[in-house]
Amino acid sequence: MGVQRWQPKLPALFQNIPAPVVNKPELQAQAVITEEPAIEAITSDASHAAPPVVEPAQMGEWPELESAVRGCRACELHQSRTQTVFGVGAKQADCMIIGETPGADEDRQGEPFVGKAGQLLNAMIQAIGLSREQVFIANILKCRPPGNRNPSKEEVAACSDFLDQQITLVKPKVILSVGRISAQNLLKTDVAVGKLRGLNTLPGHDIPLVVTYHPAYLLRTPSQKRAAWADMKLLRSLLVSAE
Ligand code: URA
Repeated sequence: MGVQRWQPKLPALFQNIPAPVVNKPELQAQAVITEEPAIEAITSDASHAAPPVVEPAQMGEWPELESAVRGCRACELHQSRTQTVFGVGAKQADCMIIGETPGADEDRQGEPFVGKAGQLLNAMIQAIGLSREQVFIANILKCRPPGNRNPSKEEVAACSDFLDQQITLVKPKVILSVGRISAQNLLKTDVAVGKLRGLNTLPGHDIPLVVTYHPAYLLRTPSQKRAAWADMKLLRSLLVSAE
């Protein structure tokens, strides 16, 4: 799978912070009860021709799935998107990372986590000896909600088959869920992300799922990097033991 040996030196991202929380044998990271602020609002004015509708039954393998996402008009977000944001990375990765929704940069470039939060996510991935190319990165939604508002229940439901099929195709050994919207929707709960942190199991797939804070939140709240570091160490230990 390619997880490199643990480097005892703390990566720069996590330097100047106290030692991480030690996980207990059941690998449950310590809870830090903190609400996550909304991702910064950015505006978009894209307009588009209507793409063909593709039914979930036609999603099958990667090419069909990518085409189904590209042509999706299942919710109103298809009207405001510049393009869909399918996901990126190794299609048979041991580790899958699931974020929330594309922002303005992602909507423009068609790739998840390409803005400032993406740079921090890359650093977090590298801190555990992996590269962006070695994981598969996707979001709960494939289209950007205007103004980066939170997605509605209907939008999440309309998009969930796509993510479900991505998980089925990637077959990751471990999933990292970043942020409240990701964690709450994957775990089908309203519990605060601070309480969901650490090890969970993804319902319906029986895959270990580690919840951590969103990198955009960590950029605003560096004091929580200590907690995120503990979560990343947990993720790495699960990947190593799954090898
Ligand atoms: N935040 C997310 O959750 N996903 C992205 O793709 C970008 C920012």
